[in-house]
Amino acid sequence: MNDQAANLRRLVGDKNTYPDPPNTQATEKKTKQQAESKGPRTIAITSGKGGVGKTNLTVNLAIALGNMGKRVIIIDADMGMANVDILLGTSSRVNLMNLLDPDVALEDVLLRGPYGVSYISGGSGMEHAGELSVTERDILFSKLEDCADWADIILVDTGAGIGKNVLDFIVSADEVLLVTTPEPTSLTDAYAVMKGYSKTTENPNLKLIVNRVIDEPEIREVVGTLSRTAEKFLKLNVECLGYIYDDQMMVKSVRSQVPILSGHPDALAARCITSIANGLVNGRQEKIKLGWRGFLRKLFRK
Ligand SMILES: Nc1ncnc2c1ncn2[C@@H]1O[C@H](COP(=O)(O)OP(=O)(O)O)[C@@H](O)[C@H]1O
Ligand SMILES: [Mg+2]
Repeated sequence: MNDQAANLRRLVGDKNTYPDPPNTQATEKKTKQQAESKGPRTIAITSGKGGVGKTNLTVNLAIALGNMGKRVIIIDADMGMANVDILLGTSSRVNLMNLLDPDVALEDVLLRGPYGVSYISGGSGMEHAGELSVTERDILFSKLEDCADWADIILVDTGAGIGKNVLDFIVSADEVLLVTTPEPTSLTDAYAVMKGYSKTTENPNLKLIVNRVIDEPEIREVVGTLSRTAEKFLKLNVECLGYIYDDQMMVKSVRSQVPILSGHPDALAARCITSIANGLVNGRQEKIKLGWRGFLRKLFRK
């Protein structure tokens, strides 16, 4: 175990630089945040390495949560590979940046996709949220705020890695789901995210999802390694919310652009995702701390 920890640390230890902690100065802002602490649960779905299954999890989780009566909005915030559209077999011409146009309302960019999935394409607005002018941030904030009226849960599909914009999303959200596969490269990169996250967040709340697993011993090993390493070296408590078996039906679903939860709800991977949705809704009750408004405030530095 210690070898593995040392390995993970050696692999990620030297190559990372972390941004400064989020600006948390104004007490006045804090009081405001506390006053607005209600709102949809806001969950960021992230990973260290790309291609580990974040978007598939996000889209299918939205369908599974929808089946449980929850209203869900996905924010497609992976600027490099924004492909919520692709998995749904749709294409959107509008994105969040269009909100800056006075004639464009939230309803115009909040797309009602197939399978009951509602989503907003992030566009570059979210990637460079911190660099927008104060007026632009105000406009985006005030229009996006109304997502709270349309959703019980907001899932933010982020890019991979520990770039500043990804970390901004994950430290702004109340809850983080960190997706990894059992591959060593994915584990190492997942550890890098945990490290960056633990250094920048005030209220850590990160859960693991292990994707593409082959059997139960593999799940135990992955979760054991990551959670023990995080506990020991980062003092970060990391639980596992669930796992998803490696399933060819998932690959077929991506190719046919019909999410597995819709096309093959009884497939092994689909049942795993339904169980993760169950865990989110019926598991230990998460307290909404900042919610959606708090997320936007942090993201847009308001
Ligand atoms: N449980 C799974 N079983 C088999 N293949 C999977 C599984 N999850 C994801 N994949 C494959 O991995 C690919 C990348 O998934 P994607 O969700 O786009 O990753 P990310 O959003 O992390 O970049 C999918 O197109 C699919 O082929
Ligand atoms: Mg993706």
